[in-house]
Amino acid sequence: MINFVLPKGRLMKKAATVLEKIGVSVKEPEDRELIVKDDGFNWIFSRVFDVPVFVENGIDVGISGSDVIDELGADVFVPLELPFGQCRLSVITSAQKDLKIEQMTNYRIATKFPNMTKAFFSDAGIEVNVIKLHGSMELAPKIGIADAIVDIVDSGNTIRANGLKEIYKIRDVGARLIVNRVSQKTKFQEINDLVERLAGVI
Ligand code: PRP
Repeated sequence: MINFVLPKGRLMKKAATVLEKIGVSVKEPEDRELIVKDDGFNWIFSRVFDVPVFVENGIDVGISGSDVIDELGADVFVPLELPFGQCRLSVITSAQKDLKIEQMTNYRIATKFPNMTKAFFSDAGIEVNVIKLHGSMELAPKIGIADAIVDIVDSGNTIRANGLKEIYKIRDVGARLIVNRVSQKTKFQEINDLVERLAGVI
């Protein structure tokens, strides 16, 4: 039995599609169901930011965005990069301003990714004030609580719709298969078989 955690949200359908290709069908949760037992798997459905936490703390396998894994500094084994969820973590400002990173000293930056944001500006030698939010970052400049945001950009529709523009890409992001470090040893056969079959179809 493999305990497998999937993120609720935009990665879930794509994760299920890849697993389908190796003959593993994810039984999606009904209503408020959070765990579904199926042959060989316990499917667990969690918040995006909890997937690496669950895997670090004992759930065998999960699928998570690299943004969340890196932000949390999760101590998990990452055997595979998956071919979906590609996007980028970027610095975003009002589309009306023509700003460079170097001009952002003492800016208030709203983000769901405070650790990566602080590390980025600190490495660039620029002092900023980071404001942690849990979603809808694009609101922050509009309502005047931040001067810029650090957020995920995929199609760019969200920033365009909110009069914002991307001024600097901090890093590329994509989906990853992650494995608990103890399970990697105690369930080696089952997990290795899953990783090899996935690697064969991606
Ligand atoms: C992310 C991000 C942006 C949006 C960008 O939010 O925070 O809001 O996607 O995508 P786009 O460039 O294709 O418009 P997500 O939907 O992951 O969830 P959130 O609103 O909870 O942050």
